[in-house]
Amino acid sequence: MMIMVMVMVMVMVVVVVVVAVVAAAAAAMAMAMAMAMAMAMAMMMMMMILMMMMMMMMMIKLLNDNDSRIISICLQSINVAFLGCERFTDVLSSFKLAGTMLGEILSAFEFMDCSSMHLVESKLGLHNPINKWPFYVLIETFGSNSSHDEEKMSLFLEKVISDNTARDGTLATDLTKIKAVWALRERIAEALMFCGTVYKYDLSLPLPKMYELVLHMRERLVDMQVTNVVGYGHLGDGNLHLNITTPDHSDEVLNEIEPYVFEWTAKHHGSISAEHGLGFKKANYIHFSKSPSSVALMKEIKGLLDPKGIMNPYKVLPH
Ligand SMILES: *[C@@H]1O[C@H](CO)[C@@H](O)[C@H](O)[C@H]1NC(C)=O
Ligand SMILES: *[C@@H]1O[C@H](CO)[C@@H](O)[C@H](O)[C@H]1NC(C)=O
Repeated sequence: MMIMVMVMVMVMVVVVVVVAVVAAAAAAMAMAMAMAMAMAMAMMMMMMILMMMMMMMMMIKLLNDNDSRIISICLQSINVAFLGCERFTDVLSSFKLAGTMLGEILSAFEFMDCSSMHLVESKLGLHNPINKWPFYVLIETFGSNSSHDEEKMSLFLEKVISDNTARDGTLATDLTKIKAVWALRERIAEALMFCGTVYKYDLSLPLPKMYELVLHMRERLVDMQVTNVVGYGHLGDGNLHLNITTPDHSDEVLNEIEPYVFEWTAKHHGSISAEHGLGFKKANYIHFSKSPSSVALMKEIKGLLDPKGIMNPYKVLPH
């Protein structure tokens, strides 16, 4: 009797478990089906939207048999010119001319010197698309009407080449070539990392003085263990990246560079750390580029915003 009761209880338990499992499986299947249905519906909606877009495009095409109109609605136009210049003053003249001739579509004006070019060629194997010149300029236009933009850019190129402001040049309009030209400028920092210790200075200087500092530093460091003194940057805001490299860290070289770089910058009405704010290392040199009264004012403002000095301690103002 006892055994029979036990067997019955066990059978009942088993039945309950089986029912529960089946119910759970059914629920899971129902959910999966609901999800599958939702996904199918989403896909159908996407296809409908796509079809509507295609119909709209076809309608635009029918309304306007000029295909380029559709392209100019959908795509932006980018042109990049890469020029070679003999002197830094030519770089400045072409900047001025770009301002007047390209106006609102001018989106970048970058320069690099031949040492920077040598670095990206030798360390990264990049290809200089033009002949060798002391300076290179990258000019980008960004607009919405490609025929208009190309026309403006070619007029500009004709002008700078004909009056010898630029000695050589190439124009990139397709994406692959545009990227290749930009890489020359953007990968300088990467190439420098193959050269040992880099002393980097991000400075803002009046345009006519911008490159003089690089020449000064080259002269100043000529007898030292320095492998590169390169300058590059954008002219829009007079931003110069000055990078100096040595095979190993050298206090002797560092002392020759600092505070000289900061004093020189201050003397020529420039400022330190053009884009990234002052870092820890340079905080004590801010006096070289800001007057005592403006440093005091900046301290006061910082005191008001952050009385306990917990925001960016050490990194903002001299202590
Ligand atoms: C694009 O530029 C060309 C040449 O300057 C001009 O003729 C045309 O009207 C412009 N198209 C649009 C959509 O602005
Ligand atoms: C070169 O200097 C700039 C600052 O002007 C800095 O942003 C850049 O990282 C430096 N390059 C390297 C490789 O340190």
